[in-house]
Amino acid sequence: MKIVYHERSKVFHLWNDSISYVMMVLPNGQLGQLYFGKRIHDREDLSDLLELAVRPMASCPFPGDRTFSLEHVKQELPGFGTGDYRSPAVEILQQNGSRISDFQYQSYRVEAGKPGLPGLPATYVEGEQEASTLVVNVEDSVTGICAELFYTIFARGGVLARSIRYCNEGAESVQLERAMSLCLDLPDCDYEWLQLSGAWARERHIKTRKLTMGIQSVGSLRGNSSHQHNPFLVLKRPSATENQGDVIGISLIYSGNFLMQAEVDAHDNTRILAGIHPDTFSWKLEAGDSFQTPEAVMVYTDQGLNGMSQTFHQLYQKRLARGSWRDKERPILINNWEATYFDFTEDKLVKIAEKARDCGVELFVLDDGWFGERSSDRAGLGDWVANRERLPQGIAGIAERIENLGMKFGLWFEPEMINEDSDLYRMHPDWVLAAPQRAKSHGRYQYVLDFSRVEVVDCIYGMMAKILREAKVSYIKWDMNRSITECYSAALPSDRQGEVYHRYILGVYDLYERLTREFPEVLFESCASGGGRFDPGMLYYAPQGWVSDDTDAVERMKIQYGTSLCYPISSMGSHVSTIPNHQVYRKTPLHTRANVAYFGTFGYELDLNRLTEEEIEEVKSQIAFMKKYRSILQFGTFYRLKSPFEGNEMAWMAVSGDKKTAIVGWYRVLNVVNDHYTRLRLAGLAPDICYRNSLSGSVCYGDELMNLGLCTTDATAGEVAVGQEPCTDFESRIYVLKAE
Ligand code: GLA
Repeated sequence: MKIVYHERSKVFHLWNDSISYVMMVLPNGQLGQLYFGKRIHDREDLSDLLELAVRPMASCPFPGDRTFSLEHVKQELPGFGTGDYRSPAVEILQQNGSRISDFQYQSYRVEAGKPGLPGLPATYVEGEQEASTLVVNVEDSVTGICAELFYTIFARGGVLARSIRYCNEGAESVQLERAMSLCLDLPDCDYEWLQLSGAWARERHIKTRKLTMGIQSVGSLRGNSSHQHNPFLVLKRPSATENQGDVIGISLIYSGNFLMQAEVDAHDNTRILAGIHPDTFSWKLEAGDSFQTPEAVMVYTDQGLNGMSQTFHQLYQKRLARGSWRDKERPILINNWEATYFDFTEDKLVKIAEKARDCGVELFVLDDGWFGERSSDRAGLGDWVANRERLPQGIAGIAERIENLGMKFGLWFEPEMINEDSDLYRMHPDWVLAAPQRAKSHGRYQYVLDFSRVEVVDCIYGMMAKILREAKVSYIKWDMNRSITECYSAALPSDRQGEVYHRYILGVYDLYERLTREFPEVLFESCASGGGRFDPGMLYYAPQGWVSDDTDAVERMKIQYGTSLCYPISSMGSHVSTIPNHQVYRKTPLHTRANVAYFGTFGYELDLNRLTEEEIEEVKSQIAFMKKYRSILQFGTFYRLKSPFEGNEMAWMAVSGDKKTAIVGWYRVLNVVNDHYTRLRLAGLAPDICYRNSLSGSVCYGDELMNLGLCTTDATAGEVAVGQEPCTDFESRIYVLKAE
């Protein structure tokens, strides 16, 4: 990797084996964007990439010159009001009412490695040789606002991480009204836009559309990154497939209100903006203050969508997630939520755990309902002390009983929330987010604590840390079950209310940071009514997250397939639950429920005591299978093969680092009658290795499996071949391929 500044042409060129990123100081002193994509040769003067033309009616800054207009020039930190009519990356409201800014290049420096972002999650390095960071200083001389533009290029992979730090070096305070993390101006718009969108229990479905003139965007104004949209977008060339072609992925490492936007202008330039959503953001920057934006990560690959996903997986698994669990195979857990909901006693829980232990489960997780007066979702949130009627010996008592079974013990919290019916609310009614004189909206009968206040975070930290110090808790499920309304903090003055959403998230990050630092051995799993905050920000603190409250295998195919576009398999909480399924009432076979859940962290969300002996034997072999192969499933190279959004079948696979073992998951939603012969073309195998197929026993070369395909033809409805089981709806198979 290299970062070069060519003094004479004023061109910056950052490159590694995969990508180049080229910028220049423009004739008007601002910083311009010239190229992002596959690596190109360096030249002394790449400034001829700057496209200038006389465009009728354009606004021009230089007297007598009609060639240079910000309306068309590709920029790094565009402001509004001086001739660029596209959405800006920065907007500063000044005391005289002006919102115009003009950031002029001042200087640059190159740092080995990558600096951290104070108070914010970000990718990191484990040695200075892993990355280089270019910091470009620009200044708006009228306000004295300086900005440091950070560009980190990693030694490996087509990755560039970006963020901006603003510092008020002027004499007056200003309001930062918009501070996007990234602006990327591309020279054409021949892209398909992919987003991950949905709803509660239907998260991260892949939605695709052709980019076209105007603005297309996804975002959140809910206070959490949301079930509805993920802070992630893909631009792919229309011809790009899963395994080849140009793809750009943009991901924002942030868990609050965000905006990801593409604006195609009249001449087919595309401007990408990613950052904190400006609609709910306004930050007062006093003289001397600074503001750090969240980090945005850009990936380019010519290896198609799988190539992009693998780059994100590698980066987010190894250099975003942290802590002792980062590289470890994840424990197989059993969670009591769908087994008992609020209806449990300690003995009932221990019975569930015992049966699970007998099957090989490693971790028992006690979900909602163990604290305060929590016998339903109407009370108790905020009172993080054990309910002694249910747990006579407290958390320490039940944790010990579970440990004595030879299992680890895990516990659910919802730290950011409060019920009106709680001791905490009775003591501190002003600790909730609520606007003066206005009614408070509840969500699931609960209010949101004002995490912008340090005393609130301190108090919750105190209660949680006490439990973790006193009891042997190995895992925490951190939930967040409603979005924010009436976002107003009683502790902030009127001109700082625009800061509350962001300060709230900073408070959440602060609590995570304190707990993960004090309890480094605890495995954290993030959750927000399932996948309402499944984002890279959370991954920095919690290496896994509950993907969705929908545990139905068929629904999960789409949810997990979509999630895999950006997030590693090791981050996806996925469980086998009961039938009829509690969300869609569908009955899928036990093996299909497991075959989907294997591509994740794996666990059970039901009472195994209610299964037949035959089913228990099946569960035992599922657990044995997962223990044997989870290192490959969770940490191998993952390939999507067949999209559930495009047909009746879905397939994906994971390949070991040495390519000697591959695990292929094949799934068919509805049965078919008298079907054609079917083959599934695999990916990522070694062409010259012979692989033995665990189901058919056949032995084939990798090149055959990748070019001809794996035979998936079976006895479909209508006719049953001799010696074969009849197939039903919701069929699935796992093929293990091993080098001979
Ligand atoms: C959320 C979670 C569930 C469960 C419940 C408990 O919905 O996503 O897994 O923990 O809360 O109330």
